[in-house]
Amino acid sequence: MNISVIGAGQMGAGIAQVFAVGGHTVSLIDISQESLDRGLAAIRKSLERIVKKEKITAEQLEAAMKNIQTYTDMGAGAQDAELVIEAATENVDLKLKIFAQLDSIAPASAPLATNTSSISITRIAAATKRPDKVIGMHFMNPVPVMKLVEVIRGYATSDATTQLVMDLSRELGKVPVEVNDYPGFVANRILMPMLNEAMYTLWEGVGGVAEIDTVMKLGMAHPMGPLQLADYIGLDTCLAILNVMKEGFGRQHYQPCPLLVNMVTAGKLGRKSGEGFYDYSAGGKELIV
Ligand code: 3HC
Repeated sequence: MNISVIGAGQMGAGIAQVFAVGGHTVSLIDISQESLDRGLAAIRKSLERIVKKEKITAEQLEAAMKNIQTYTDMGAGAQDAELVIEAATENVDLKLKIFAQLDSIAPASAPLATNTSSISITRIAAATKRPDKVIGMHFMNPVPVMKLVEVIRGYATSDATTQLVMDLSRELGKVPVEVNDYPGFVANRILMPMLNEAMYTLWEGVGGVAEIDTVMKLGMAHPMGPLQLADYIGLDTCLAILNVMKEGFGRQHYQPCPLLVNMVTAGKLGRKSGEGFYDYSAGGKELIV
């Protein structure tokens, strides 16, 4: 299939990678060539890791890279799409603008999927004239490793669109799970309050970064501690998701920890900015204790 992926960041690059490895042709679209080049470099690095594990060959790596074309113009990159997956920044106005534009560019038969972590699929669909073909296809980070695809049906999403995305996810070796369209869906509705609570626990001085993460890693067999995972996801993304849930449900329960708000305001966004609860330039040493 011809797949167009909007956004060459961490998630977009990962999504492009798994489709390219699965033998699909991928048009990777972003606003700057610099972002696209960074995305391609991340894909190659991830594939090299997989070659080292002997899960694919060096020839398969090159074949996958050849399956990806890059575009800075959405018109050129989406005009032949059989499926579009949007993985832009978690900002509702940006997503509404992209979907309205996509609706006039992509073939009328093409489903338009979004990798949004929490924004209403029904609202995004309403920006198009094909709401039956708009759906959530929520991959987890790191995309090449994590098995889950959370498939979110908007109010108007058709059975045919849902079936296509469920089948395609299985074909990529993933396990799709169908859920309904309410703020945070299932994954982030359950994950984010835990990460937020870890931040409150730190802010209130109950434990330090290392202590909190160690308790959850060794005590609950989580692969990463909650503060390490928040840094990995991006603190701005965590804050955006909590705010969507807080506004969507009107419950105090989702109130973002003031420490998280301060860190995002100060530009400490976690791994991607080099500093969050840990300092990545100093090899992952915890900063706030
Ligand atoms: N590309 C390719 N392979 C990768 C990779 C990447 N980017 N990152 C890790 N891997 C592979 C490694 O090569 C290794 O392969 P192997 O099993 O064949 O040896 C395997 O994954 C495990 O990696 P490592 O040994 O380097 O390190 P860990 O064992 O610590 O695993 C991890 C890393 C998979 C990231 C693990 O720590 C983990 O599962 N963390 C939690 C991730 C998580 O919760 N993700 C969901 C976040 S929420 C989300 O995405 C939703 C959003 O909306 C916010």
